[in-house]
Amino acid sequence: MTEQAGSKGHVPLIEFRGVGKRFTVKGEPLQAVRDIDLKVREGEILTLVGPSGCGKSTLLNMAAGLFEATEGEVIYRGAPVKPYNNSVGYMTQSDHLLPWRDVIGNIAIPLEIKGLPKAQVVARVEELMETVGLTGFGRSYPNQLSGGMRKRCALARLLAYDPETLLMDEPFAALDAMLRMRMQIEIRALCRRLGKTVMFVTHDLDEAVAIGDRCVVFTGRPGTIERVVDVPLPPDRDILQLRKDRDYQEITATLWDVLAPAVGMGD
Ligand SMILES: Nc1ncnc2c1ncn2[C@@H]1O[C@H](COP(=O)(O)OP(=O)(O)O)[C@@H](O)[C@H]1O
Ligand SMILES: [Mg+2]
Repeated sequence: MTEQAGSKGHVPLIEFRGVGKRFTVKGEPLQAVRDIDLKVREGEILTLVGPSGCGKSTLLNMAAGLFEATEGEVIYRGAPVKPYNNSVGYMTQSDHLLPWRDVIGNIAIPLEIKGLPKAQVVARVEELMETVGLTGFGRSYPNQLSGGMRKRCALARLLAYDPETLLMDEPFAALDAMLRMRMQIEIRALCRRLGKTVMFVTHDLDEAVAIGDRCVVFTGRPGTIERVVDVPLPPDRDILQLRKDRDYQEITATLWDVLAPAVGMGD
C-alpha cells in the first residue's frame, strides 16, 4: 500500500516517483527497492523503519544524489535530484570526527571550506556549540568526549553546512538506551526549532514513533512501502513521558502489527 501524500497544505520537498534500485552483485542483479512512491513534506520529520537490507540507506543515498535510481525518478524541490545534492546533510552511525582536531576545529571544517573569515568562523562555531549543547567543550578532542558529546559535535558540524534537509541513517544506533532517548529529545526539538526537513532511518519502532511526524514501514527486500502511518502526537511531545501515553502505545502497536510480518514474525 502506498500513501496519499501531498495532501492540501503540505509541500513535497522530496518525491520518489515509482522508484526502484537494482545493484549488480557478483554479476547477478539484486533488486534493493521497488515501486517506491513517497512524498517527503517540507518541514516534517519522516521516519523510515523496516527490516535490515530492505533498502532504507539506499533511499537516503538516492535522496542525496549519491545513487541513481534504476527505475522511476527522485525529485528534489520540483527538479530531478542532482548528483551530490548539496541541499542535504548526511548523518550516519559513525561520526567521522577528525581525531587531530578539537571540537572547535571539527565544527569549523565546513566554514573553512566555504572560506569564511576567521572571526566569522569563530562566532559561528560558538553559536553552533550552543545550539547542540557543547558550550565549554570547544578545546576537547574527540577521544576525550562521551558518545553523546561526539554525536553533538558531528551534528554541529553538519549544521555548519546549513542544509535544509537532514538525512539521518541510524545515527543513535550505537548509543545506550538512556543516552539514545536524550538524543531523540534533542534532535526532535532542534529540527523543529530550525525548521529542517528530516528523513530519519531506524530499525527501532519506539524511536520511529518518538521522533517522527509520520512513519514509513517497509517490507523486506526488495523493499516496498508497506504503509505510511501518521504519528498524531503533539509536536512538542515529551519523549520521556511517551511510554505512558495511550496514543503512543496505540501507534507503536499498529506499527508493530504492520512490521512484524515484514520481518517474518507475524502470522
Ligand atoms: N553499493 C551497493 N552495491 C551493491 N549492493 C548494495 C549496495 N548498497 C546496498 N546494497 C544492497 O542493497 C540492499 C539494501 O541495502 P541497504 O539500503 O543498505 O539496506 P538497509 O539500509 O535497509 O539495511 C542490501 O541487500 C545491500 O546489500
Ligand atoms: Mg542501512
